Amino acid sequence: MSIQDIKIGENIENLLCAITSISTGITKTDKEYMRFVLSDNSGEIQAVCWDLEKEFKELKEGQVVEVEGTCNEYREEKQFKITNIKPTSKDYDISVLLPVEQNINLDKLELKFSNFINKRIKNLTLSWTVRYLLNKVWDKYKRVPASSKIHHNYLGGLLCHVCQMLEIAEQVICVWPDLNSDLIYSGIILHDFGKVWEYEIVPGFPRSDFGKLNGHICICWGEIYKSIDEGKKYFETLDWIWDDNLIAKLQSIIVTHHGNRDWGSPEIPKFAEATVVFALDLLSARTEGYLSLIRKSSNAWTPRISYYDTEIYTK
Ligand SMILES: [Fe+2]
Ligand SMILES: [Fe+2]
Repeated sequence: MSIQDIKIGENIENLLCAITSISTGITKTDKEYMRFVLSDNSGEIQAVCWDLEKEFKELKEGQVVEVEGTCNEYREEKQFKITNIKPTSKDYDISVLLPVEQNINLDKLELKFSNFINKRIKNLTLSWTVRYLLNKVWDKYKRVPASSKIHHNYLGGLLCHVCQMLEIAEQVICVWPDLNSDLIYSGIILHDFGKVWEYEIVPGFPRSDFGKLNGHICICWGEIYKSIDEGKKYFETLDWIWDDNLIAKLQSIIVTHHGNRDWGSPEIPKFAEATVVFALDLLSARTEGYLSLIRKSSNAWTPRISYYDTEIYTK
């Protein structure tokens, strides 16, 4: 049984799924209850538990559980009423629990991405830096999501997000040919590189302690910084000229790509290529975020989404 197959009115026993989020609330009669978002690779479902047992409060996001209960309808959406939920003791295949996007061919994306790196980035300093950093963590880079909830929140989500940005960037560069395309492409490829450390590839894609403490922007800035000495040494052996200014601009793209301080960027974009990366990041993330809500929703309006500060129209 997968989450997508659950029908309203159905009683379910032993549903294997992951806890994507947990919150608690208090009823009008002053009784504590718990809300969950449960997920597997077919999707997610809202769930509520009115009769709490002591062990339920020890459950954590990302945990793999077996659930019993009934699927009801609440505000025209499915809502699972939990009667029992416990960590599973069975062996399971992790791929059954990690979300995938059926319409996306990750092999094709990988090819497109490699083409960009091999053919489009001509500047030696940028090309070396991008390759050096990706080579270290390629297996995780190509699997990590771009976010755990809002957009591209599935296996390979970051790769998909980056490829969308690269594709739009090609058009932007046609409109403004004076832009430094190498800087834009390198900035796009590395803008969320720190998410390789920020997210764990387990159900629910929780943030690691290191990720929560430092955030993907600072992590990526640090990774570029650490690579500089290695790059310079390598360039000396080949008599190539290392471009410090371009690396400083690449690091600036990383720290400004959220556009403003309220959105988590320590600095504001300071040159045209940085503002392009910021705009393309926002465009890809927002468009994909809206479309994923529209795909999932069976109603004309979603509930108010706090991240967007509005409800979304889906028809
Ligand atoms: Fe980011
Ligand atoms: Fe991004």
